[in-house]
Amino acid sequence: MKASDVAAHWESNAETWTVYSRAGYDKYRDALNTPAFLEMLPPVAGLAGLDLGCGEGSNTRAVARLGARMTGLDIAPTFIRYARETEMQAPLGIDYILGDGQCIDFPEANFDFITAFMSMMDMADQRQVLKGIHYVLKPGGFLQFSILHPCFMPPTRRNIRNEAGERVAVEIADYFDESDGRIERWIFSSIPQTERAMLTPFAIPRFHRTLSTWVSMIVDAGLTIEAFGEPTASPELARAEPVVADTRIAPIFLHIRARKL
Ligand SMILES: C[S@@+](CC[C@H](N)C(=O)[O-])C[C@H]1O[C@@H](n2cnc3c(N)ncnc32)[C@H](O)[C@@H]1O
Repeated sequence: MKASDVAAHWESNAETWTVYSRAGYDKYRDALNTPAFLEMLPPVAGLAGLDLGCGEGSNTRAVARLGARMTGLDIAPTFIRYARETEMQAPLGIDYILGDGQCIDFPEANFDFITAFMSMMDMADQRQVLKGIHYVLKPGGFLQFSILHPCFMPPTRRNIRNEAGERVAVEIADYFDESDGRIERWIFSSIPQTERAMLTPFAIPRFHRTLSTWVSMIVDAGLTIEAFGEPTASPELARAEPVVADTRIAPIFLHIRARKL
């Protein structure tokens, strides 16, 4: 799939995604995924960071609030417009750029660190993305990114429920299917059913890679893996936000930190 097609799909998702994520319906992100990512993030105060695939900027702002000087980059104009509007209303010193993560256009060794929250599995040529990241990172700098867990969120994952309807196991398949740009259609499951019925589901081109492919792409780019994270809901969180309770069965997200030594 061409980058322009990927961009067109994300542009068509951007309005609904922004409105509903800002209204608190991206429960996995807000309750579990971003807090775990930030907990794993090394100190960034005073550092220059790039957030790749920043969307409407929610997570870019979270990192900026930790004291980093952030640049956000995304391929969808509507996301960048929303992010810039928010920056104008409540400035955090973030510069938002419309661009493609597969051809990062910054000088060599420009950033102390790079984040990519749930965006790299949406980029077609991850090898190229990782090479670009290596180029613009300063020596000693790090990349931290989150993706759908390659092992537990391959192209097919289905919840298995008990007689009471509770999720108790997951069924997975197609782990080795690395076909490009398969369109996944879904919408935030916590949006009330009546409202969901009136919305067009997101159409997301996915570029699934196995865990071993991810590791080899990272290593081939010249980065050294130093940490993995697999967020899981605590019993308390699962009770408070039942939507994320299935992360207690098997992880949905994988966090990876790698360094340019
Ligand atoms: C699942 S959303 C995550 C957005 C944001 N990081 C967050 O956590 O809320 C994936 C994002 O990746 C962006 N994206 C996809 N392909 C891209 C590319 N080639 N270059 C830059 N951004 C891209 C999409 O436009 C979208 O904003």
